[in-house]
Amino acid sequence: MIHTRISGTGSYLPGEPVSNAALIAAHGLDSSDEWIVERTGIRNRHLAAPGVTSSDLALEASRRALQAAGRQPGDVDLIIVATSTPDYVFPSAAALLQSKLGITNGAPAFDVQAVCSGFVYAVTIAEKFIRSGSHKCALVVGAEVFSRILDWKDRGTCVLFGDGAGAVVMEASAEPGILASAFHADGSHHGILSVPGQVCGGVATGDPFLRMDGQAVFKFAVKVLADVASEVLTAADMTAAQVDWLIPHQANVRILQATAKRLHIPAERCIVTVADHGNTSAASIPLALDEGVRSGRIRRGQHLLLEGVGGGFTWGATLLRF
Ligand code: ACO
Repeated sequence: MIHTRISGTGSYLPGEPVSNAALIAAHGLDSSDEWIVERTGIRNRHLAAPGVTSSDLALEASRRALQAAGRQPGDVDLIIVATSTPDYVFPSAAALLQSKLGITNGAPAFDVQAVCSGFVYAVTIAEKFIRSGSHKCALVVGAEVFSRILDWKDRGTCVLFGDGAGAVVMEASAEPGILASAFHADGSHHGILSVPGQVCGGVATGDPFLRMDGQAVFKFAVKVLADVASEVLTAADMTAAQVDWLIPHQANVRILQATAKRLHIPAERCIVTVADHGNTSAASIPLALDEGVRSGRIRRGQHLLLEGVGGGFTWGATLLRF
């Protein structure tokens, strides 16, 4: 049987950290560091300079992941980028990343648009390709420049997000690997978190900024994250006690804590980066994974539970042996 393992991780954050105080001053927000820290746990975020795109961030994260895996760009035979903030309407950020990496072997490249669940969706898809035997070495990336779709006059949303990218190399292996994955969507909840605009006739029409009902998102997120985590644990015949690290989508420290509590996973076994990254949407899980690996906390052979929830609504989880 063909299994799939993560052979390398990498990440990239643009520029210097921007503190809550600096953000408030830059945009004249009626807010405070105390309010943001208390409600979200966020202290800093990184923001891409004008002209820096998701594929630029993806390129740096991918180079680091390939180096960690001991692979060259030409070894990659599948490229998936999870993003809701691609460089262009088309081509995909994945195709642009392929070009920037100098990959000329015709490897398929496409984007996955599942907002903050995008990375879990992309890992789930890549695992199915590899398990089928059709592909052997996938580059799977989450990359976002959410700063481009924020309304800087809306204090309820603009303080929450940041820019960044994380990447993994996934390879065919004789040993597991990915143990179980699940992904879901319920489009009836599209109204509580969306960017309800489009490009039409050469101009942005509708509302091109992120809009959110924060409390509705909070309630929905905690429920489905706990449910989907239980789903993959059951599928792998494991319990939460066997999980070495919970690596959740980094939306808000209170959502992270509530989900960990429901799963009976103590805070010490949860990778938390939201304080310094903010919510980087599809990039947040691979960023947290890479930080855990590079800090030496996550080690080979440990069991990791990745889980995400995002606009759509979409949600999913992946349980793996690292
Ligand atoms: N600074 C100061 N006051 C603020 C700010 C701010 N940045 N933002 C909102 N407020 C005010 C509101 O205007 C409101 O004022 P009012 O009482 O005078 O009307 C007051 O704070 C309370 O607003 P609520 O929205 O009720 O605040 P709440 O406690 O729900 O916290 C928050 C808001 C942090 C957004 C919370 O609902 C939350 O964390 N929701 C989860 C959403 C989330 O994480 N989204 C990320 C994207 S989705 C995802 O990744 C899955």
